[in-house]
Amino acid sequence: MAQTLKPFISERRLQSRVRALGRAIRADHQDRDLILVGILKGSFIFMADLVRAIHLPLACDFLRVSSYGSGTESSGRIKMEYDLSHPVKGKDVVVVEDIVDTGWTLDYVLRQLRAKKPRSLKLAALLHKPERTRVNVSIDYLGFTIPDRFVVGYGLDFDCRYRNLRHIAVMSA
Ligand code: IMP
Ligand code: MG
Repeated sequence: MAQTLKPFISERRLQSRVRALGRAIRADHQDRDLILVGILKGSFIFMADLVRAIHLPLACDFLRVSSYGSGTESSGRIKMEYDLSHPVKGKDVVVVEDIVDTGWTLDYVLRQLRAKKPRSLKLAALLHKPERTRVNVSIDYLGFTIPDRFVVGYGLDFDCRYRNLRHIAVMSA
């Protein structure tokens, strides 16, 4: 079955929103020991642009989780596949995620990170689909609220493809 991609958020809108998020993160973290934690793989392009929009010294780390679920929805049974490479105790952490859908992934990741005793823990998410949210996570730095549509591009994939699109597109059959 062939998929059609319809442009949804342009490269220009993405870039301007990411720059605004970078400025907000900078304003909140002056003179802090800041570390940005990207959740692989979906966040890698957003993360790359976001860290370059935060004009402060900072460190980058990554983690990877997997969820056991069917098809396009995560199940809430989530496992850490690849954890941080450095301790975050006493540091100011901003988690970077591509999209908050059901919220299960972030709920799990934030609980795991909170247990590592950072000084502060915030969340930057490029996209949020509130209609699908099952568990509430508070997003400190949000790019765009979107309707319940499956989107790809700018790091987000369908079946491992389309992550390299410079814009975000809606996929339909
Ligand atoms: P959840 O919030 O635990 O349901 O899972 C969020 C994860 O599901 C994201 O990190 C994405 O990897 C994936 N996901 C959810 N919605 C979409 C979408 O519209 N396009 C691509 N991936 C999505
Ligand atoms: Mg993801």
